[in-house]
Amino acid sequence: MTITFVNGKGGVGKSTFCFLTALGLREAGKSVSIEDLDPQKSISAWVDEERDGISKTEQQEFHLIDTRPAIDDQSVHSAIERADRIIMPSTPSPGDLSAVRASYEVVQKFKRKGAKVFVGLNCVRPGTNFSQDAPGILSGLGLPLLQNALPDRQSIQRSVLLGWKAMDPGTQTAVFKLTIEIVS
Ligand SMILES: Nc1ncnc2c1ncn2[C@@H]1O[C@H](COP(=O)(O)OP(=O)(O)OP(=O)(O)O)[C@@H](O)[C@H]1O
Ligand SMILES: [Mg+2]
Repeated sequence: MTITFVNGKGGVGKSTFCFLTALGLREAGKSVSIEDLDPQKSISAWVDEERDGISKTEQQEFHLIDTRPAIDDQSVHSAIERADRIIMPSTPSPGDLSAVRASYEVVQKFKRKGAKVFVGLNCVRPGTNFSQDAPGILSGLGLPLLQNALPDRQSIQRSVLLGWKAMDPGTQTAVFKLTIEIVS
């Protein structure tokens, strides 16, 4: 299964979503590879093949593609065309949510038949207005949403240096549930 993470907007959590999904799949005992199409090479820097067990060279059962913050780019279109799942990370900020719509339309144009597309909320702070309102805003925009979200946590930032074990148990559970939902 190929899973592509895409959003024309920068800094919304594409690389974080991709990396944590890979860690979640490894925890579930699956073989995972990551293709890093972002010129910033965040994921390539974060993934330690030995520590995380994620291949950066050979395609595995679950192949994850991180993309650059662009939507009018050939490498992004090709990553969309190859995907079985397309995940569009966004923060719950209303500006970020409304910007997803433009990327979604491009995804619809390039995705193959049968591929599933979802917005995935990132940096969620339960109890805040933005987080509570986000599902309604997305539904008003006609955008499908993953039920599970990534919380705003320092331990997620630590995980890019130290891997799965750097996350607190609550965050590990959130990542695990999100991963299962993405691949189901
Ligand atoms: N859930 C989270 N909790 C805490 N920090 C987060 C979370 N998600 C992302 N961040 C932080 O926000 C910043 C941007 O995240 P990330 O690099 O994943 O975004 P991106 O969409 O890949 O950015 P770019 O468009 O530049 O590639 C990073 O510093 C990351 O550590
Ligand atoms: Mg990135």
